[in-house]
Amino acid sequence: MSMIQSVYIHIPFCNRICHYCDFPKMLYQKKWIHNYLNALDTEIKTYYQNEKMKTIYIGGGTPTVLELEEFHQLLKIIDQFQKEKKYEYTIECNVESLTEDKIKYMKKYGVNRISIGVETFHSHHLKTINRMHTKQQVIDTIQLLKKYNFDNINIDLIYALPNETLSEVMMDIESFLQLKIPHLSTYSLMIEPHTTFYLQKQLPVAEEIDAFMYQAICQRLKQHGYIHYEISNFAQPGYASQHNLTYWNNEPYYGFGLGASGYIKEIRYTNTKSFTHYCNHQYRFEQETMTTRTKMENEMILGLRKREGINRNIFYKKYGQTIESVFPIQTLLEQGKLEAKQDWIFIPEDQIYRSNDILIEFIQ
Ligand SMILES: C[S@@+](CC[C@H](N)C(=O)[O-])C[C@H]1O[C@@H](n2cnc3c(N)ncnc32)[C@H](O)[C@@H]1O
Ligand code: SF4
Repeated sequence: MSMIQSVYIHIPFCNRICHYCDFPKMLYQKKWIHNYLNALDTEIKTYYQNEKMKTIYIGGGTPTVLELEEFHQLLKIIDQFQKEKKYEYTIECNVESLTEDKIKYMKKYGVNRISIGVETFHSHHLKTINRMHTKQQVIDTIQLLKKYNFDNINIDLIYALPNETLSEVMMDIESFLQLKIPHLSTYSLMIEPHTTFYLQKQLPVAEEIDAFMYQAICQRLKQHGYIHYEISNFAQPGYASQHNLTYWNNEPYYGFGLGASGYIKEIRYTNTKSFTHYCNHQYRFEQETMTTRTKMENEMILGLRKREGINRNIFYKKYGQTIESVFPIQTLLEQGKLEAKQDWIFIPEDQIYRSNDILIEFIQ
């Protein structure tokens, strides 16, 4: 197994809870931060083997809700990771809590990629999902980031929100294009159990409408030179998220923090979502040792999320078997669910919105 060169760190605090969100998160309370950061530091010191990292990703939750000195402490904890000469270091932010002082600290500690949860630019939809910011705040924040030479910026958008029209979705894409930033993640709204939307009995839009919105988004971004490199991700050349590619390439990574998952030495694990357990240093919740079969399944399920798909030679090098000898590739190619070009196997463009149905075929 290749060396670990990526780390995900989870910061589970938010200032308010979005109606769609099922991630490990809780409302920010000052009294809990000190204990959490201490537990996180100990977890890292227990497991980290001093490898040089190519990618560091601090996600949440909303890492920037930490107050300035708490945020500084977090950056100091993360500073114990060695870095390769060329590395990507991302922090997830929201525009309400990202201040100029925090930006200065990020610069000082070598952060070089910013991901902002915007979700929509329409104030009435922001209200529906229980978010507070405005479009102007997004524009101002990005301008401020550019002033400090942060050019590798992503925003997250969600489409197919309750009662959202296609023209509103497309207006969001235009607003994104006007920001002149190199990366967009865009997800169709999922109604997850335990969320307010679920309790409100919100229904997802019809599959055909979802597919139609998705195709319109893909087309518009392509016209503007964005490469559609993964189901939900678009980047200008050279700006694909190296950290997320670690996941999709089925490579190992550390996961630290509440509810985080990781993949170390053949073991995939998930941390506890209990704040009390976590702060008592009972980190791991469950773990599974990967067999060759489960590794190969993951290779397919994760790899086919990338538009370029899976490389036959890399697969053979990793597992000593051809893809065809393990999975019913021929049938899927004949059904038009997969396509092959040179050494690559991928999901054809007109099938991407059905990806989940196709990926299921690889699980025994
Ligand atoms: C867990 S959030 C972390 C980012 C940060 N907390 C924020 O929201 O500003 C990562 C992204 O996942 C997406 N997301 C989370 N829950 C979702 C859902 N139920 N349906 C669609 N997208 C979702 C949102 O776009 C969100 O920005
Ligand atoms: S989407 Fe982000 S800001 Fe909203 S509740 Fe989830 S983690 Fe917090």
